[in-house]
Amino acid sequence: MPKWLNDAVFYEIYPQSFYDSNGDGIGDLEGIIQKLDYVKGLGCNAIWLNPIYDSPFMDAGYDVRDYKKVAPRYGTNADLVRLFEEAHRREIKILLDLVPGHTSDTHPWFLEAKKAAESEYTNRYIFTKTVWDAPPQYRMMCGLCERNGNYMVNYFSSQPALNYGFAEITHPDWQLPTDHPDCLKTVEAIKDIMRFWLDKGADGFRVDMADSLVKNDEDKTATAKLWRGVRDMLDEEYPEAAMVAEWCCPERAINDAGFHMDFYLDHYGNGYSCLFRYGEWGDKAVFNPNGEGDLSAFTEEYLPNYNRTKENGYISFMTNNHDMPRVTAYLDKAAIKLVNAFIFTMPGVPFLYYGDEIGMRYQADLVSKEGGYSRTGSRTPMQWNSGKNLGFSESDEPYLPVDPSDDAPTVENQKDDPDSIYRVVTDLIAIRRKYDDLHGNGELEFMANKGQLPFSYRRGSLVMFFNPLGREAELQTAYAGDVVYKLGEAVISNGRIKMQPQSFLMVQI
Ligand code: NOJ
Repeated sequence: MPKWLNDAVFYEIYPQSFYDSNGDGIGDLEGIIQKLDYVKGLGCNAIWLNPIYDSPFMDAGYDVRDYKKVAPRYGTNADLVRLFEEAHRREIKILLDLVPGHTSDTHPWFLEAKKAAESEYTNRYIFTKTVWDAPPQYRMMCGLCERNGNYMVNYFSSQPALNYGFAEITHPDWQLPTDHPDCLKTVEAIKDIMRFWLDKGADGFRVDMADSLVKNDEDKTATAKLWRGVRDMLDEEYPEAAMVAEWCCPERAINDAGFHMDFYLDHYGNGYSCLFRYGEWGDKAVFNPNGEGDLSAFTEEYLPNYNRTKENGYISFMTNNHDMPRVTAYLDKAAIKLVNAFIFTMPGVPFLYYGDEIGMRYQADLVSKEGGYSRTGSRTPMQWNSGKNLGFSESDEPYLPVDPSDDAPTVENQKDDPDSIYRVVTDLIAIRRKYDDLHGNGELEFMANKGQLPFSYRRGSLVMFFNPLGREAELQTAYAGDVVYKLGEAVISNGRIKMQPQSFLMVQI
């Protein structure tokens, strides 16, 4: 287990929207290098970089055309190496985004695989035996190639699924077992890509759709076994490298598959969304001040998962990512501050999505860009200052429009404002990194309160109290101590804490 993870706070950067250094309208690696001091200033010591590989961008780069080449719009491989070096100089780690489940349909492997003539790539993807064979339970693209067969896709139609074999073989004429030499070659191809970037200075990978590799793998045992082999490779060759799974099933991802971290996401049951987003527009979320939320959907799901995986890895909370509406679509400013207090005081390894530190707004009505669709509104350019395109780019045609409102939050207008989300996020990250008890593997104990609000939990010597309600409320507590941090007013006396609406208190006992 890489030791650095225990104290890690990640910043997710969507490269096309972060900072455009050359005025072509699109963010680039040089732009990220220029903003590393900003990332460091947030208190983050690690970055997850969304895909930067060569791609036709039908899915924002999750459709890879060349895993070993940086997309020219972002720079060169040499620029990426420079980014690793500059980040390391500032004690910041960088995880690339590994997309092992599928490639672009323009990837050279696929261009070979779809030909009638056999080649070493014939089994790199999943093709049926003939074009007349299209079992409806699989997502097949039919009649599109010279080869007499249909191919399976993993996500969008432009993303053919790589072939790691089938756990249960239901169509023996075209489904291969996972130990077929050609499926094993696919695994080796992915390890080869990992080594390529780790040797150049990457610190590991966020793994896209990590659970999707082996097909007909209902309980994911075969997929987990495959990843365990990858983890063995890392342990032996790159023991400091880290992997975080987009899996959302910590027992499988961490205990079985060997991921160091697993994301706690909206589509993992109800737990994450019940905190911040539950109900169509968050009206049943725990942090909604209307008080319709109930914490038990979270605690009953999260705590057993946490207890069963905490010895082996970390569950990662995120403020958001590039696939979900930003939390500003659901909650008000006071609630968002509490959300951050929660995320940055829980165990595991937290992730801050770019722009969430200033409360960037979800831009609901944008036309889809590069396969974003409803996700596009969370992918707009970072808002730095009051300049052109809010400081993102000098171009007249930025990648996406910036927030057009007069009061659009920017780093510039939030930095010195004591009431800003920026201030709360940076304060909380600093506190998290200062106190060992708040690090990834520090203890956690929820005070039993049957899911009711307010609520409270203890992390070693630190106790957190939250009143997400829009009204004053009280809670019994066995703890009192020195105030470490607070949002709003809360006072402990005689075994009770009295909390103002939407307040938070952290004490050291
Ligand atoms: C999950 C990624 O986060 C998302 O952005 C992408 O579209 C799909 N996987 C497909 O790769």
